[in-house]
Amino acid sequence: MAFQLISHKDNIAEVSFDFPNEKVNKLSSQSLPALKKMLEDLQKSNFKFVLFTSAKKKSFVVGADIDEIRKFTTKDQYDNAVNVGQSVFNLIEDLPMPTMAVINGVCVGGGCEMVMACDYRMISEDESARIGLPEIKLGIIPGFGGCLRMPRILGLQAALDIILSGKIVAPKKALKAGLVDWMVHPDQLREQALRMASEIVKKNSGKRKKTFSPKGMMAQVLESGLGRMLVFKKAKEAVLKETKGFYPAPLKALEVIQKTYGQDRAKSLEIERAAFCEVAVTAVSKNLIHVFDLTERVKKNVTLTQSSAKAQNVSSMGILGAGTMGGGIAYVAADKGIRIQMKDLNFEALGKGLKHAQDLWMKLVKKRVINDYDFRHKMALVSAGVDYAGFKTLDVVVEAIVEDMEIKKKVIAETASKMKPDGIIVTNTSSLSVNEMQIAHPHPEFFAGMHFFNPVHKMPLVEVIQGQKTSDQTVMTIYELSKKMGKMPVVVKDGPGFLVNRLLLPYMGEAAYLLQDGMSIEQVDRMYTKTFGMPMGPFALMDEVGLDVCIKVLKIFKKAFGDRIQMAPCMEKLATTGRLGKKNSKGFYLYSSDRNVKPAVDPVIYAELGLPQPTNPLAETECLERGIFAMINECSRALLTDKIVDHPHEVDLAMIMGTGFPPFRGGLLRYADSLGVKYIAGQLEKYSQKARRLKPAPELLEINKFYR
Ligand SMILES: NC(=O)c1ccc[n+]([C@@H]2O[C@H](COP(=O)([O-])OP(=O)(O)OC[C@H]3O[C@@H](n4cnc5c(N)ncnc54)[C@H](O)[C@@H]3O)[C@@H](O)[C@H]2O)c1
Repeated sequence: MAFQLISHKDNIAEVSFDFPNEKVNKLSSQSLPALKKMLEDLQKSNFKFVLFTSAKKKSFVVGADIDEIRKFTTKDQYDNAVNVGQSVFNLIEDLPMPTMAVINGVCVGGGCEMVMACDYRMISEDESARIGLPEIKLGIIPGFGGCLRMPRILGLQAALDIILSGKIVAPKKALKAGLVDWMVHPDQLREQALRMASEIVKKNSGKRKKTFSPKGMMAQVLESGLGRMLVFKKAKEAVLKETKGFYPAPLKALEVIQKTYGQDRAKSLEIERAAFCEVAVTAVSKNLIHVFDLTERVKKNVTLTQSSAKAQNVSSMGILGAGTMGGGIAYVAADKGIRIQMKDLNFEALGKGLKHAQDLWMKLVKKRVINDYDFRHKMALVSAGVDYAGFKTLDVVVEAIVEDMEIKKKVIAETASKMKPDGIIVTNTSSLSVNEMQIAHPHPEFFAGMHFFNPVHKMPLVEVIQGQKTSDQTVMTIYELSKKMGKMPVVVKDGPGFLVNRLLLPYMGEAAYLLQDGMSIEQVDRMYTKTFGMPMGPFALMDEVGLDVCIKVLKIFKKAFGDRIQMAPCMEKLATTGRLGKKNSKGFYLYSSDRNVKPAVDPVIYAELGLPQPTNPLAETECLERGIFAMINECSRALLTDKIVDHPHEVDLAMIMGTGFPPFRGGLLRYADSLGVKYIAGQLEKYSQKARRLKPAPELLEINKFYR
């Protein structure tokens, strides 16, 4: 039974949601009609109050069933489904007796829309409890009345803040915003809900339609006619700035709210439904749902061949090297409660690593995300030294020292001798062979790669590299550790550049050839960001990574992959200019220490690189295709011949999480599939007439097999 009806004293009914064979309660083509039937019965009953509760642990209702949404393709299919949801929630709103949602955990999407149709809302202050409308993140909008009810309950500003960014908030915030009426201890939730229901029944205070009433002059002005226009204008500007026009759903939601705020319910629901159908059929929404699926697969360890091995719990970590990466890794791990022991060659370096973590936490204190107590507690988790004292107790050690094979091997052997026999060592190398490094470890099964991306606290991806001798248990332990650190792990095999850097290098290399062909730095970067949607263009990216590092790795790749990796003459020249990128404020762009001054292309750079002034002779399509298709081409080899990963899904996830490849395109290979690999191969063949490096790989057409 999906719903259980329990009678309590004072004529109080409790409808307990417990969808069979499901871990969580979802709104679907099965559960919604069943709920409708239950509501119709309640309508005719003598009950004086209805409580909606969940029998699932730490979750109330998680929203609409995404498996169903995914299968729909036409507007009519969406329209029918949304119509059912809207009418069921209208029934809740129109029940003759007052209602209360008793929220014991996650309550998002359709779940949140449902509770907003109730008269009262009580939430548990349990850590797991969350409430909000994340629909925008799937490229859709709230469609079961959320666009109407949330602004009515919270007022325009607070509702726009949640709906347009797809926010999910903790109970405290929900209470402050007025989204819930009470927050109580999890152990007392049901008892308090029953008590409150009895009180309401006794007082006969009855039904209510909670409507926001602005407090203070400013709030009143912003809710008034002129003020409203200003709020909508500002919201639109913020959406366009954030989405750069690539995501239609937030603008659609804004349009719906603008048209329906304070208007009649039936007409408003029609507007909301039509808008929902419009965005739900777009490729952007399908792609965002694909990205959601990819992240869910990580949460559930789906298709992980190593998943039968049992991960060991990691509560303490050592970090060798307190530099850029070591400091970042220490911060991220300690932030999640892992005890950290940092080791470097001297105290000066350790001081820098500690300061890096301290500065990041201080920012959170200033923003009131954490308090002073949290700050001190987190700092106390990190200790530092120049020797191996305490290493015997550590579960995992991350090596993040200088990128030199011989030094790394020596340090790995030394570290292994100081750790417990089953302690795991991982390397954060970005270009060296994990298989070779593994030889230095007396028990290579306890050695793997754990490749973080810079800046560690911002970049979600971790490549977990399984060396030839790494055990499945070590892989699983590092996979779970990455998740514990709030990261998105992808298991890859060893090989030059692993996955993400291997694909990025041909892309960056091709950008240099575009420069060689007369394109300007700004123009190329603009095309990749403004037209394609990358978070930064290839030249800005190279500056970020460090031009010395790019050149060094290009050379390593050339050695490993031969002719297909070529270095444009301007890159060879670049190596002699002393330009290192952002780190010495001088790369393709010049960087100012004044944060208000935007980086600008150095006008003398073309002459310095032996290039004439750019004339931008190439069409945008060619510029974009050469760079993106170079990545896809390389990817076909990495996937099919070298088997760096098992499936295109891993490529899509890694490129989105590791490079910011536009999520609205669904990932590199989903994008390739949307164009068709035949088209890509044809274009590469054409471009390769002038540039052999762009010759389509024989593997390229084979990618099709994954999509048949
Ligand atoms: N910087 C990046 O963008 C990035 C990204 C991913 C991976 N990596 C990899 O991470 C590793 C570290 O890179 P980084 O950028 O943090 O370098 P870094 O130069 O900022 O820091 C390296 C630190 O290691 C210390 N060190 C050197 N030898 C040591 C030893 N024997 N024992 C303990 N400490 C020692 C140095 O004193 C220095 O503080 C490298 O393998 C690099 O390839 C770097």
